[in-house]
Amino acid sequence: MNIVTPLADRDHLTARYGSASSPPVGPWNETIDLLLSHRSVRGYRHDPLPGNTLETLVAAAQSAATSSNLQTWSIVSVTEPVTKSLMAKIAGNQGHIEQCPLFLVWLADLSRLARLAHEEGVAPEGLPYLETFLVAAIDAALAAQNAVIAAESLGLSTVYIGALRNDPEAVARQLALPAGAAAVFGLCVGYAAEGAVATVKPRLPQETVLHRERYSSDGEKQRREAYDAALAAFSRQNETAHYTWSERVKARIGKLSALNGRERLKPTLRRLGFPLR
Ligand SMILES: Cc1cc2nc3c(=O)[nH]c(=O)nc-3n(C[C@H](O)[C@H](O)[C@H](O)COP(=O)(O)O)c2cc1C
Repeated sequence: MNIVTPLADRDHLTARYGSASSPPVGPWNETIDLLLSHRSVRGYRHDPLPGNTLETLVAAAQSAATSSNLQTWSIVSVTEPVTKSLMAKIAGNQGHIEQCPLFLVWLADLSRLARLAHEEGVAPEGLPYLETFLVAAIDAALAAQNAVIAAESLGLSTVYIGALRNDPEAVARQLALPAGAAAVFGLCVGYAAEGAVATVKPRLPQETVLHRERYSSDGEKQRREAYDAALAAFSRQNETAHYTWSERVKARIGKLSALNGRERLKPTLRRLGFPLR
């Protein structure tokens, strides 16, 4: 059982930013408490979810805003151990995918609009563009985040799995996706295993991401150094591999191999039915 002690508003902000860069307390409520308490969880009990949890999460997801109400996303809900195991393999052997009782694969899905166009005898001229793919990927992300918040509000834990994009064609084959539908990420949902809930992971100071009226990177390096220290402390406390944020960024963007095949995403998406013009 993971006991989460309620925090005061100020403590939530300090947990998220560290005491040195914590912003002032503004309007507050339980929803904001919940948002600031978010942490990804990478260890799950096998316990099943309460009845109709999936349908509740999908209703929350479908309540998100969606570009032009086109609703260009879908989910494949995966509970079969053999399918979860394959998804885990595609995602670089992330064991939590096999542990969690519910694994959701979020799709950018233009296939439904293509079918409508076909049935209605309309040439789908606007579909093959990068813009339309972006609409679908943004829609999927907004919907998924609503599901994450709904899950966390029910005492469940989650972690996104972007590593499904290591091999979107294998995902498409396994899930029988039609052309024009591709996985943008997965999501583990379940009850956190004992000891699997980390402390809240600190974020960059607000001054780094919030630009007032005009963009400015003044002071960014000093703030980054302070954040490096905060993230190193988090990493020492919660993770086996210790790293600063700068080290993490360098490892991720400094070597093409860190993309794990995702550098081929454009041709892959084209083969999956997204011309990306
Ligand atoms: C689109 C997306 C893809 C992600 N993919 C993975 C993943 O494949 N494996 C993983 O363990 N975490 C993944 N994460 C979780 C991030 O690592 C995590 O959100 C980040 O480190 C911040 O930690 P927090 O969520 O606990 O605050 C992903 C997050 C997002 C938003």
